Amino acid sequence: MSVRWGIAGPGRIAATVAAEFAHVPDAELVAVGSRSLERAREFAGRFGILQAHGSYAELFASDVDAIYLATPHGQHTDLALAAIEAGKAVLVEKSFTTSVADTEAVIRAGRERGVFVMEAMWTRFLPAIVRLRQMVADGELGEIRAVYGDLLAFREFEPADRLFNPALGGGAVLDLGVYVISFAQQFLGTPSLVHAVGGLYPNGVEGEAGILLGWDDGRYSTQAIGFTAPGPGRQVVAGTKGWVEVKPRFHRGEQLSVHLLGREPEELTLPRTGVGYCHELIHVGECLAAGLTESPVMPLDDTLAVQQVMAEVLSQLGR
Ligand SMILES: NC(=O)c1ccc[n+]([C@@H]2O[C@H](COP(=O)([O-])OP(=O)(O)OC[C@H]3O[C@@H](n4cnc5c(N)ncnc54)[C@H](OP(=O)(O)O)[C@@H]3O)[C@@H](O)[C@H]2O)c1
Repeated sequence: MSVRWGIAGPGRIAATVAAEFAHVPDAELVAVGSRSLERAREFAGRFGILQAHGSYAELFASDVDAIYLATPHGQHTDLALAAIEAGKAVLVEKSFTTSVADTEAVIRAGRERGVFVMEAMWTRFLPAIVRLRQMVADGELGEIRAVYGDLLAFREFEPADRLFNPALGGGAVLDLGVYVISFAQQFLGTPSLVHAVGGLYPNGVEGEAGILLGWDDGRYSTQAIGFTAPGPGRQVVAGTKGWVEVKPRFHRGEQLSVHLLGREPEELTLPRTGVGYCHELIHVGECLAAGLTESPVMPLDDTLAVQQVMAEVLSQLGR
């Protein structure tokens, strides 16, 4: 079965992902929707897309099977709900929404309508991260006790940009924190303790945070995120039998440094195909072909758990 895709929101990431369809078998990018017909036509022309729609409602009423929702996170909820109501499978960019209540509403709608919904947490689908999860599942690292790292990315403060604009879901937690929390969550599960410190810009949006996650049996994750300083963007997964570094930048990682007790260290390179977004698109196609309404790799319960942690971090930062 070939999946007919439509892109909602012809912005920066949509352009990168549109080019990735060249690496996705059994998928066709056939439509794009925008608030402006002119912008939809320009994007469609750039990527050879047949249908250009001048409203999101028109896109959702079209004959596509699946929507890739690439608007700013403040504009995910209403559009995801509309796409679900139209019976479309939806791949929602990270962060899934800007609040726990909105995430619950989208998940509920998807489950009630019986359509496939997934957060576009592309890192989980990269070959290097898939290999690392397999190593952990096979017990090669023993029991995982800690996951620590950062996603620091310096950006000049520009209040109108979606990264800093509260109306568009701005702030370091929803843009960068989602990656590190989701990364730790896939190995350790959902934490019972969240501690966060960080600083706010003059418009009240957070620019940085240090985050400590804890589990009742003493396992932990420490993470640094922020736009205020550059940093490597690496992660370490540490278990009782060894540790693995996902080399920078981990969220698009290709290299694993594997250190097992009693063994020589090993460097593994597992390249992405294309820029790396094709892996999540291929996964969605496989889920749809199998008749699944949720991904076993990025389940909606994980998305909700990560959103709950982000809400707690934001509240502790005074947002
Ligand atoms: N997975 C990744 O690596 C990755 C990387 C970057 C971004 N993202 C995620 O992708 C999403 C979009 O990010 P982006 O950087 O691509 O944003 P962007 O360049 O600002 O594009 C967003 C698009 O959304 C549409 N939109 C709809 N309602 C809007 C509104 N009220 N205000 C502004 N735009 C609106 C706009 O298209 P029209 O005006 O034509 O409707 C715009 O082109 C975010 O959730 C972000 O976290 C993911």
